[in-house]
Amino acid sequence: MRWFFLILAIATVALVCALGPRGQKFSSPPFMLFPDMDNQYKVKAQKPSPFFENGQGARTPVEGTVPLGYTYPGESADSVARTSRDYSRGSDYLNTGLFGDFYGKGFPEEIKMDEAFLERGKQRYQITCTPCHGEAGNGAGIVSKYWAIPPTANLIDPRVKEMPEGQIFWTITHGKGLMGPYNGVTSVNDRWAITAYLRALQAAAGK
Ligand code: HEC
Repeated sequence: MRWFFLILAIATVALVCALGPRGQKFSSPPFMLFPDMDNQYKVKAQKPSPFFENGQGARTPVEGTVPLGYTYPGESADSVARTSRDYSRGSDYLNTGLFGDFYGKGFPEEIKMDEAFLERGKQRYQITCTPCHGEAGNGAGIVSKYWAIPPTANLIDPRVKEMPEGQIFWTITHGKGLMGPYNGVTSVNDRWAITAYLRALQAAAGK
């Protein structure tokens, strides 16, 4: 009897070894008792699809598709300022103050720097920023007389003077620390105008 089991075991192993490998690949899914939606009729990345006429699975974007962070050609910056796209981190310098993940230096090419622009910046600055940062930008606004702790930032400090223009634009747009975002009350153009006026204040302070 002992021999019988041994021979049976050897015969089973031999049979499995002989019949197991079929020698060819199987392309259809194996029979599954519980499929669990493992095999779905869907387009896989980079794979063809018989569903479309040209058999190509990946479709080209619909005409007029705009990637996040970009604007439609001819769309004014002001209309963009009111949408959530304003917050996107694209490479749209005019609307974000950013190049990719970095603050941009200088003013966007769409901005026309002239006396009227600086005048607009001065007016907007005096309306929006003076209560905290003061008319001269030194942080001695009316607020500093009441809530001295923490002090409002001194914007003619060399540290802020060295900040890239994009960072100042970004700070006005999104706020910083206790300072709230001012993108709701200032348009994109006005934020650049304020930034330009702030540069003028810093130059006037001569530090
Ligand atoms: C309600 C008060 C308030 C108003 C209004 C305000 N700010 Fe500020 N701002 C602050 C405070 C407070 C800080 C410091 C925030 C911090 O560092 O935590 C600050 C910081 C800044 C900074 C960064 C300074 C730094 O050292 O990093 C800039 C730039 C700035 N403000 C510009 C502006 C401009 C431009 C306006 C007008 C559009 C404005 N702020 C309006 C309170 C204000």
